[in-house]
Amino acid sequence: MSKTNKKNNFTNSISGNNLEGDFTSSIDIDKQMYEEDIRGSIAHTKMLAKQKIITQNDKEKIISGLLAIKKEILNNTFEWKSGLEDIHMNVESRLYDHIGEIAGKLHTARSRNDQVATDVRMWTKKTCIQIISKIAELQSSFVKIAEKNIDTILPGYTHMQKGQPILLAHHFLAYYEMLKRDLNRFKQVHSSADVMILGSGALSGVNYPVDREWLAKELEFSNISNNSMDGVSDRDFIVEFINACSLVMTHLSRFSEEIIIWASEEFQFIKISDKFSTGSSMMPQKRNPDYAELIRGKTGSVFGSLVGMFTILKGLPLTYNRDLQEDKKHLFETASTTLECINIADGIINNTIINKDIMLSSAKNSFILATDIADYLVKKGIPFRESYVIISNLTKELVKKNIMISELTINDYKKCSEYFEEDILNLSLETAIQSRNSVGGTAKSIVEKALSKAKKEIKIATDHYEKN
Ligand code: ARG
Repeated sequence: MSKTNKKNNFTNSISGNNLEGDFTSSIDIDKQMYEEDIRGSIAHTKMLAKQKIITQNDKEKIISGLLAIKKEILNNTFEWKSGLEDIHMNVESRLYDHIGEIAGKLHTARSRNDQVATDVRMWTKKTCIQIISKIAELQSSFVKIAEKNIDTILPGYTHMQKGQPILLAHHFLAYYEMLKRDLNRFKQVHSSADVMILGSGALSGVNYPVDREWLAKELEFSNISNNSMDGVSDRDFIVEFINACSLVMTHLSRFSEEIIIWASEEFQFIKISDKFSTGSSMMPQKRNPDYAELIRGKTGSVFGSLVGMFTILKGLPLTYNRDLQEDKKHLFETASTTLECINIADGIINNTIINKDIMLSSAKNSFILATDIADYLVKKGIPFRESYVIISNLTKELVKKNIMISELTINDYKKCSEYFEEDILNLSLETAIQSRNSVGGTAKSIVEKALSKAKKEIKIATDHYEKN
């Protein structure tokens, strides 16, 4: 069936292109979109026949050729040619090999400009859904580890200084919240990408009786673009996608940073499994948190793509300019880095040993209850600012004498303020945590509520995307 390399009207029509040259070629990157490209072409062909722009017979031939090409790609027998620049021309050229000159009818009422814009949008929508389901998995892992640590106490930090005691579950649920925002952001990106561009032609629309609404339905788009010039040159959704990825990566990078600190010899709050750490080639005692470090490092590359994409767009006159071809490099790399990093973060969480005792003793060996002691006096009627000074002087004194708060007797307290009574001795990490029961606080009762809310939310999010 195939008569590759024969000169035909297609190769003639693109003559002037440097068939050997790689500079203008994007095939190594955009072949990732072959599924979308072929799907778009099949839908376009059906629409052309429905509108009697081509015959039924042409339609059948074109579709059978496109399906044969898809099979070749899937079987790895398709020969990609960089001289044919991109996915669109590689497919169209191969169509000639399969069905001869009728292949030339496929591109009626279409330009590569509205074709590529539509393909990239389909790809982006598909990838948003993949990322959404990966984020939901990661959220589940945070919820699971939070559940297991509903009684684990550790210091909560501000400025990397021990501040107040918290439950580890509360700490992990903070990441759940960040990821919830991320998930919603990808829903928004999905709807920005959900606009069908075909029918815009090269820039000004097409002079054939195309049915854009039908095409949108066929390709499962919710909307069609309103302006052909904007349609072929709009890549805002790619910026939005990379922005959403940048924020996921920011969150993963912050998590990685904590993992790295917590796994350090100084902290020893956790032990990362050997699966997600590596040995040093020189220092046998070390386990390096390379996986977390790489997430942190790759975040920089994703930010680079965001700047790259903005910079590609900022000087472009309307409408399509070839600069736009560079968009896919940033889009695809960002998507695969983000998906990979979400997976790795998930692996780290599920394979890390929590040293609960070390976390607890780190909280104990500190002045972490100072705020609670100050609050005790406030509740006896002393203004907070005054109480703050009293307790600040007390802790300075204790630090000097190397005495812990837990060692104080009622007499020591009374020396500080006559308002102290016996019940101050009941103050502990547990009671301090229990008392922080404002909505969103670290009290166990509140964290338990947050956990069950999170589980419901994950179920709703995943059910929705499993159905669609
Ligand atoms: N490979 C091109 C891209 O990704 C396809 C569109 C080419 N259009 C053109 N007029 N040269 O942007």
